[in-house]
Amino acid sequence: MTEIKSAAFIGLGVMGGPMAGHLVKRAGLTVTVYNRTPAKAEAWVSEYGGRAAPTPREAARDADMVCLCVGNDDDLRGVMLGPDGVLAGAKEKAIIVDHTTASAAVAREMAKAALNKKAIFLDAPVSGGQSGAINGQLTVMAGGDMEAFKLIEPVLRKAYAKEIRLIGPAGSGQMTKMVNQVCIAGIVQGLAEALAFGIKAGLDMEQVLAVIGKGGAQSWQMDNRGKTMVEGKFDFGFAVKWMIKDLNIVMDEAARNGADVTNTRTILDYYRELESRGDCGLDTSALIRRLNG
Ligand SMILES: NC(=O)c1ccc[n+]([C@@H]2O[C@H](COP(=O)([O-])OP(=O)(O)OC[C@H]3O[C@@H](n4cnc5c(N)ncnc54)[C@H](OP(=O)(O)O)[C@@H]3O)[C@@H](O)[C@H]2O)c1
Repeated sequence: MTEIKSAAFIGLGVMGGPMAGHLVKRAGLTVTVYNRTPAKAEAWVSEYGGRAAPTPREAARDADMVCLCVGNDDDLRGVMLGPDGVLAGAKEKAIIVDHTTASAAVAREMAKAALNKKAIFLDAPVSGGQSGAINGQLTVMAGGDMEAFKLIEPVLRKAYAKEIRLIGPAGSGQMTKMVNQVCIAGIVQGLAEALAFGIKAGLDMEQVLAVIGKGGAQSWQMDNRGKTMVEGKFDFGFAVKWMIKDLNIVMDEAARNGADVTNTRTILDYYRELESRGDCGLDTSALIRRLNG
């Protein structure tokens, strides 16, 4: 294969729906989609064209590139393996690009399973959130085969990647996403403490954010979540349940590689506290809720 001409997309959720749309609109590909809840696939087809398939296997058939964006390790196995899975339908040399945030272990497992079917699997989790997916401004961190990466890189740059890098062999993309999530957890908790402090001090927080947002404390989280944290709005974005999943993956990997993740472990406990209060569907910036009581 010298060029990607057709694609399949499995998992049209908050992230996958708009990403699949960019493959059509920006990259000009013919896209076949599969979604577990068929109504979402039908709605997607009426917006972007293309075709909805009844199984991942049918969606993958004939596609040069098969992108996935489902929930966790088991969801990934569910759509990849078995008689109706992607690997049952993928053609020889098809490149499977997994945007799910999952473990490095499942990435290696899928890479091996793909090779047995003469296909290629790249782990390629993303960062940039719901707005990054909608605006086609995601960062993509990949692991796997260089030749396959070279084929998909220009397509994803056209469609939704503002930055995309191959970090190393299978699992390296997921490991990079773990680094990303450790950073985000620390930044969001720091921001939550700082804003709760400012509110308790009786400061005009709009003014505070306007000035410190131009200095050394500026961050994506401050720019995009500072105002809504002060206003107590969390009904959007990256759900607490996903962050708990991601930080559990970090804990497992740290237990293997010996990294000290003391701070991240504490923040994971804070997220579990939110979950036990029924807040697992809120944006991760809801950490400030623990401090505002
Ligand atoms: N949301 C963010 O800001 C963000 C940012 C970066 C990375 N991520 C990661 O991206 C992935 C998707 O997140 P999302 O926010 O798009 O989630 P979402 O809106 O809940 O969408 C999940 C998608 O996966 C499908 N799915 C889940 N389990 C499945 C299974 N067992 N079999 C078949 N399909 C299944 C869902 O199908 P149904 O429609 O039938 O439920 C849906 O299409 C997660 O790994 C998340 O951690 C999310």
